[in-house]
Amino acid sequence: MAEKKDKQVTFKIEGRSYEGLHEESLLGALRRYGYVVPSLCYHEAVSSYGACRLCLVEVKKGKRQKLTTSCNYPVLEGIEVFLDTPKVIEHRKLILQLLMAMAPAARQVTELAAEYGVTETPFVKDEGQECIKCGLCSRVCKELVGADAIGFSGRGLAKQMVSPYDEANQACIGCAACVVVCPTDCIGLKEDDHVRSIVRWHRDLPMHKCDKCGRAFAPTFLLTHFAKQIKVDKSFFDSCPDCR
Ligand code: SF4
Ligand code: SF4
Ligand code: FES
Repeated sequence: MAEKKDKQVTFKIEGRSYEGLHEESLLGALRRYGYVVPSLCYHEAVSSYGACRLCLVEVKKGKRQKLTTSCNYPVLEGIEVFLDTPKVIEHRKLILQLLMAMAPAARQVTELAAEYGVTETPFVKDEGQECIKCGLCSRVCKELVGADAIGFSGRGLAKQMVSPYDEANQACIGCAACVVVCPTDCIGLKEDDHVRSIVRWHRDLPMHKCDKCGRAFAPTFLLTHFAKQIKVDKSFFDSCPDCR
């Protein structure tokens, strides 16, 4: 199976031939070759979830041509990919209207919609909402950080990305990876000399100060976690990276 995944295949984008890896993410391959495809929920370091549905393309496989999200579509020998076809644009505009209703306060969505001439939505707006429920934060937290501290709760319109019981979760190490990847910047990080707060998850972690220069450089809890993970004594993190 691993062998098959490493196999080079040839496929076409807008009529031009390219090489790719068998079953790699089509969106990843498109980006590698410089093609611009809008997306909000894709990150090459974690599994694709196909949540925002913005990365639509048309793919021809054999005699069949269909509309599909590209982040979770596998590159295969002989497929032909078409990017901004009338069908793709029509569906992408509809998706932008849906996202504008789901997260009307998300500037990133409004700006992207404006690029497609979409300035209003016919759907009922969830006023004040910024989260597009893409799940990228929880995939990063689980698959990269290994903390699994957040997840979806509820179903349908009540579905929300939260920490368990919407309370601070001790499993959250305060690394802020989720804050960095969130496409609508709606998690929030606050930090001063004493506390780092991951706002959306209600997690407040005391900061550790460098024993040499006195600068608060990371939450103590996070440093203890790292020390355990890389198997060094926790005194390794007494000083900040600049003084170490
Ligand atoms: S800050 Fe907490 S919730 Fe966010 S990725 Fe790190 S451990 Fe997970
Ligand atoms: S908080 Fe951000 S990353 Fe997480 S589901 Fe919402 S929009 Fe996506
Ligand atoms: S990037 Fe493909 S569905 Fe969001």
